[in-house]
Parts: sequence; structure tokens; C-alpha cells
Amino acid sequence: MADLLARYREIFGDGGTVRIVRGPGRVNLIGEHTDYNGGFVMPMALEAAVRLALVPQADPVVTLWSEQFAERAEFALGGDEPAQAPHWLKYPMKVAEVLAEAGVKLSGFRAVVEGDVPVGSGLSSSAAYEVASALAFLAAARPDVPAGPAETAAAAHGLTTGRLALLCQTAEHRVGVRCGIMDQFISLHGKRGHAIVLDCRDLSYEAVPLPTDRAKVVVIDSGVRRKLTSGAYNERRSQCEEGAGRLRKFSPDIKDLRDVTPELFKVHEASLPKIVRRRCRHVVTEDARVLESARALKEGDIERFGELMNASHDSLRDDYEVSGPELDLLVRMARGVRGVLGSRLTGAGFGGCTVTLARPEAVEPLRAAVLAGYEKATGLAPRIWVSDAADGAAIET
Ligand code: GLA
Repeated sequence: MADLLARYREIFGDGGTVRIVRGPGRVNLIGEHTDYNGGFVMPMALEAAVRLALVPQADPVVTLWSEQFAERAEFALGGDEPAQAPHWLKYPMKVAEVLAEAGVKLSGFRAVVEGDVPVGSGLSSSAAYEVASALAFLAAARPDVPAGPAETAAAAHGLTTGRLALLCQTAEHRVGVRCGIMDQFISLHGKRGHAIVLDCRDLSYEAVPLPTDRAKVVVIDSGVRRKLTSGAYNERRSQCEEGAGRLRKFSPDIKDLRDVTPELFKVHEASLPKIVRRRCRHVVTEDARVLESARALKEGDIERFGELMNASHDSLRDDYEVSGPELDLLVRMARGVRGVLGSRLTGAGFGGCTVTLARPEAVEPLRAAVLAGYEKATGLAPRIWVSDAADGAAIET
């Protein structure tokens, strides 16, 4: 943090009190592609995060230096999009836009942006960036707001963190991905040592403690990079909407796939076109798996939780078709290690990371197995983290 402060002075060379805000990335333990179907998810926030070190300015201009791209760019609040704005500038611009529309008073600021959530890896670097940007705006306009959790900063502007998550989601939509609410929500509501079970329809949630003495969460980056905006994600979402629309004819109460029980689905699945049927089957069974996982976790049944993670991956691979050879290989390798309870791809898919639940004594053998075989088979260097669940976004100083 001291480094980031020093970087601000180095880059901008001005005085003023520097504030640091943080929006964490996340790993989703189970509940994939269910959020935009009104269903259930179980993510946890990561220590890896996007941070901004900022100083409010009198001019209504936001000037940013990106550490990752070693590039400076700026935009005027309420102004037009600057010609040739770099892609990374679009996120804070869209966040500013939605905050202003929500009636939040905005002021200009200068900031250094840095992050250690790998981009395009399924760990929600974009949500982390949106949430951190939103907090930067809240902090810049209200220098009197003390350091503390996002809730305090949001309340100072008459907002809840749930509303803030929805605003950040809208910002992401405007950048081009019709994402669900999971990533922005967990970035704002993460709790140290806990996973969050979230009902994506009404945003009610429960924090469930993770038994870290009995099971570790291991995140492995396949090194395959995806572009969410590439259309496959939005296409899946449309297929789900089509399925829900067709099933609604049988039961008018169906709003989203969340309302389709596995039993109801069995009765009517034959009426759906083949691909839509497979997509829907994933979502319907995945919702049931999240609810059962939450029960298993609360009862300390980590073995069952692991089995459900495995079933989730198989469904994402076969029915939702968002896996790939590298992710499948990592999952197979993990499952072959004694003491691994379950392994699956995490996030949207099409590359990125897997998440594995492993007994503590299985972590080193898992690491060794992946290091020994993955790069040889794929030519890609894997990255492996044992991750603890972190707190949600905050104004740190
Ligand atoms: C991305 C989206 C989320 C969610 C996941 C898949 O991370 O941003 O809203 O849909 O994919 O579960």
C-alpha cells in the first residue's frame, strides 16, 4: 500500500491526501451461469484485487495512470467519450455514467490503478475494477467519509452495496458483456473466511464459513485467455432466455430458468430444441447443486461438496459447452490426486481457471502433479494459488 502511495507521487507529483480503494476479484466455488437466470451462486472474494490510489481534483476530469498498461488516459465527467480511449478506460467511464444517472454527485480525481487479478482468467478482474472505480468516485466526492468497508462509503451517498453492485453490473453491460450480478456482488460483499450463498433474484445472501483446517481452495490458471465480449457468453444467455420462454408455455409462473425444477424440466425437456435443452439442463441442475452444496458445507460434509463440484464441471463441459481441453486436463489431473475432493472450471469458462477443493495434505501433491504434467501437455505455464476467502471492497486509507 505504501508502494502505491509512492507511485501516485511519482506519477502525478502533486500533494494532497492520497486515498486507497480496493475491489477484490473472486473465485466461484459452485453455481456457474446461473446468476443471469435468477438462480444461485456460491463465490468467495480473493485477496487479489484492483486498487486505486487517488487524490480528488477541483476540475471535473478523471485522469488515470494504469500500472498494467503503463499508460495515462483521461476523461471529462459528463463529457463525450474521448476519441481512441483505451479499453481499460471504458470501465471507470461507464461506472461514472451509471453513478451520475443514479444521482451520485461526482468529482474529478487523479489516480494510479494497479491490480493483481489476472485479466481474462475467470477471476473477475473487470468486476474488481468496476467496484474499485465506484469506490474511488464515492471517496473522491466525499473526502469526509472515513476508511472502512464499502457499505459506509455507499451509505454516505444514500446507496446500499446491493444497489452499488447493480450499478457496476450495468456499467459492465455498457462495456459489452451481459453479465449476471455475481461478480460485482461478491466483490462488494465478500467476507473473510467465508463463501457467500447468493440468491441472484432478490440478492438475499448468507455467509457460510469455510472449513479451512479440513479443506483448501486451490485456484489454477490454465493460461488460456478468453475474451468475454467475444459473443459466446451473450449467446449462452440468449439460449437460456429462449428456453425459459418456451417452458413458460407450460407453466406461466416461470420467469427465469431458476423457476424450473429438475422435475418440471424432465417432463418438458423434449419440447426444447436440442442445444437449448442442454443449456437449460445445465442451469436447472446447477441451481440444485448450489443449494445442496450450501447444505453440505453447513453440515461439514466436504466430501459431498466435492462431488457436487465435479458434477458441476461435467455439466459445464457437456451441456453448457464452456470448457476446453486445457481446463478439462487440469480437472482430470486434480481429480487423480488422492485427497482432492472436487475440481471444476470457475467463472464463465472458455479458458481461465479451475477451482479445486483439496484436503490440506493433498495441496502439495496436487501442485506437483500439475507442474509435472500440464506444461508438457499444453505448452502453457500453469499458475497455482491456495486462496483464502477475503473481505469485500473497502476504502483502505
Ligand atoms: C462471468 C459473469 C458472471 C457469471 C459467470 C458465470 O463471470 O460476469 O455474471 O455469469 O461468468 O457463472
